[in-house]
Amino acid sequence: MSSYLISNVSVVGAAPTDVLIRDGVVAAVGAGLDAPEATVVDGTGLVALPGLVDLHTHLREPGREDAETVESGSRAAALGGYTAVCAMANTSPVADTAGVVEQVWRLGREAGLVDVQPIGAVTVGLAGEHLAELGAMADSAAQVRIFSDDGHCVADPRLMRRALEYVKAFDGIIAQHAEEPRLTEGAQMHEGEVSTRLGLTGWPAVAEEAIIARDVLLTEHVGSRLHVCHVSTAGSVEVLRQAKARGVRVTAEVTPHHLLLTDSRAETYDPVYKVNPPLRTEADVAALRAALVEGVIDIVATDHAPHAVEDKECEWAYARPGMLGLETALSIALDVLGPQWDLIAERMSRTPARIAGLEGHGLDPAPGVPANLTLVDPAARRTIEPAELASRSRNTPYARMTLPGRIVATFLRGEPTVLDGKAVL
Ligand code: DOR
Ligand code: ZN
Repeated sequence: MSSYLISNVSVVGAAPTDVLIRDGVVAAVGAGLDAPEATVVDGTGLVALPGLVDLHTHLREPGREDAETVESGSRAAALGGYTAVCAMANTSPVADTAGVVEQVWRLGREAGLVDVQPIGAVTVGLAGEHLAELGAMADSAAQVRIFSDDGHCVADPRLMRRALEYVKAFDGIIAQHAEEPRLTEGAQMHEGEVSTRLGLTGWPAVAEEAIIARDVLLTEHVGSRLHVCHVSTAGSVEVLRQAKARGVRVTAEVTPHHLLLTDSRAETYDPVYKVNPPLRTEADVAALRAALVEGVIDIVATDHAPHAVEDKECEWAYARPGMLGLETALSIALDVLGPQWDLIAERMSRTPARIAGLEGHGLDPAPGVPANLTLVDPAARRTIEPAELASRSRNTPYARMTLPGRIVATFLRGEPTVLDGKAVL
């Protein structure tokens, strides 16, 4: 195995030092390290972070390999500074059996660019009627610990209770897409002043908040673990704040797009801005940012949702919801939070790794730790060109925007997956 000496680099914002990587682990951290056999990577002006971890990625394989594959999504992730991603279950076929989660897990290993940890479906076919084979997925080679019907809500409270009870046996997590379906029938965007003006059917904030409130109570009752996907409203933050104060085992994520964009984007009628849950108001964005800093929202997760051109470049009402996220998440976080490196490491690496139980991830560079890390150039600015993204899809809402920060290198167990800002494999 190879050795790399990252010289003069700031580890999570601290004063510059050297980091020596050897045999897949961090061998030493300190000024003036000498390692003649090592390849030198000049870290001057760069910040080293523990490799980013995404708890919410759609890789589309099996089934929609025209939109993304495990390999193309893994490459997008590595270029975004990620060393591990959790792959959502809404593939075709759905990842609701040991066979499908093992297939995704194996494809991830073969691509070898990030660790791909499959998430299993809660219900068979995401249909919300019968529990999937949660135990078989947990016992499979993929060792699934997080289950989600994301894209759909587990709306039936009895089924949600049973799922929470089932995963308690192995300390698993139910990750809920919180959307009361009876309140969002036909919804096209956030219900509010803009939807009224545009004449589009609204998706009210209460459809999210009501499910989170219910699930927090169910989780407390069962004594299990809940994770709330893509929190998007100020009201949801208040429900989560109260639940955490009571000691309920609930964690929550926010996406980069909900931290930056608002429902006013719908005025363009450009379906690139159609997403579920929808973009909300300025007040929601402010509450989400504050909650992320405070820790009421635990992590940033991308909800990277690649879609083929024909599913996005059509009339708003027919377009699929979702936007790309992996290759721009760190830049959006830097834009929103500023250079608060410890906070960024906490919300984008350490805490998501801990929630997902991903061993060897989310650890700051220190002797003996697996060398999963990423190097960021905080002074760089880049203009997003959709055609230059590694994802197979092009539905980024940041096209032609100039964003701060650039991923210079990413290391997975001591081997570079990205060097000089380019994918290695
Ligand atoms: O916008 C979204 N897209 N929200 C989801 O919950 C699912 C996702 C997808 O799979 O495209
Ligand atoms: Zn979702």
